[in-house]
Amino acid sequence: MRKVRIAVLVSGGGTNLQTLIDAAEKGDINGEIAAVISDNENAYALERARKHGIKAIYINRKQLAERLIIELQRLDIELVVLAGFLSILDRELVKAYEGRIINIHPSLIPSFCGKGFYGERVHKAALEYGVKVSGATVHFVDEGTDSGPIIFQEAVPVYFEDTSETLAARVLQVEHRLLPAAVGLFCEGRLRIEGRKVKILKEEV
Ligand code: GAR
Repeated sequence: MRKVRIAVLVSGGGTNLQTLIDAAEKGDINGEIAAVISDNENAYALERARKHGIKAIYINRKQLAERLIIELQRLDIELVVLAGFLSILDRELVKAYEGRIINIHPSLIPSFCGKGFYGERVHKAALEYGVKVSGATVHFVDEGTDSGPIIFQEAVPVYFEDTSETLAARVLQVEHRLLPAAVGLFCEGRLRIEGRKVKILKEEV
């Protein structure tokens, strides 16, 4: 089976990116990370890409709407993964890659998501609210913010003593399992979107 060409979009440290790089190198997913693209020149994620011989591209936020789609098409990208990418994607790009963009979010959507909820802010909001569970969600991207069909969700407990750092670390452990698993299924053609739901197709034997 031909490998799916993946671009991973990042803004920060890139621990989720690292799990994808590792899964691709081990052959756990039938995909190849063809490029890592960041809207932050100093993102450590770009360094992670370079260390593994993966093309690392920085695009200034102001030029994102114009340049991102050009780069993706130039590189024949078939799947776009948002792994801690903090810019909102242009409508045109979302349309062009409908059903082919996957995002990871550090809460149980539809809680603590949407505009302004990213990174540490998500965990702060969950702690302020006093929820007893939080978690991670992997979903397809549609034209809204964090509103597309859900592929995987998994909960983690929230403890009275938690800080946004301790909660983030607990959620990240889950993210690191769910994201490569979802990308792996996509690369095998086993994710089918039916309305708001995602059906996981059985493995072909
Ligand atoms: C992750 O927790 C990811 O879920 C979150 O940013 C972090 C990136 O960490 N994404 C969002 O909040 C998107 N709304 P990483 O750079 O170590 O993968």
